[in-house]
Amino acid sequence: MYGIVNKAIEELVKENYGEDKWESIKLRSGVDVDYFISNEPYDDAITYQLAGAIAKEMDIPLADVLIRFGEYWVLKTGREKYGALMEAGGAHLKEFLCNLPVFHNRIMLMYPRLTPPEFKITDVEERSVCVHYFSKREGLQEFVRGLLQGLGKMYNTAVTIELLQHRGANADHEIYKVTW
Ligand code: HEM
Repeated sequence: MYGIVNKAIEELVKENYGEDKWESIKLRSGVDVDYFISNEPYDDAITYQLAGAIAKEMDIPLADVLIRFGEYWVLKTGREKYGALMEAGGAHLKEFLCNLPVFHNRIMLMYPRLTPPEFKITDVEERSVCVHYFSKREGLQEFVRGLLQGLGKMYNTAVTIELLQHRGANADHEIYKVTW
């Protein structure tokens, strides 16, 4: 993944737990990169190693790290570094979610070697939609939950997120029902 992702993980840790904690986490992860460059792609393994090391260092489940990072990505990285893009995504939560399938098209203009997620929106109701998440990557189900929670917070909208389907023998993607 592009360095911006690893950099955001670094910022999340430093802002909340300080520089020393980040150094311990990096050491534990075995990732030997001094400085992540935002617009350079890195091996996905680095991102997973960092997330795993945070879970171990903090003694919390990996799922919690991913949820926390998803929220941070929307509320801090998205809003502070790509405010205009996030705002263009929609005037309210429902609009943003309905636009989600094309959201990363614009990101690809900045990051041409992106391997983006794919989203499909179905069952659009007054107060809920179903978000279908397709990815070439494994294990990011709870990251998406965190992103959706973050979007709820961004729009000051209380949301509940229900996982209706996850990838496995009988399904090739996740489905989240988002209700507000
Ligand atoms: C301005 C805001 C955003 C930027 C700049 C951005 C950019 C990126 C980047 C650079 C990656 C790494 C992929 C790669 O390097 O190949 C990524 C992955 C991802 N993004 Fe975004 N993104 C943004 C907002 C969102 C939002 C709002 C969502 C969904 C609610 C989202 C969902 C994801 C997911 C799930 C992945 C993991 C990739 C995968 O599943 O394969 N992103 N994004």
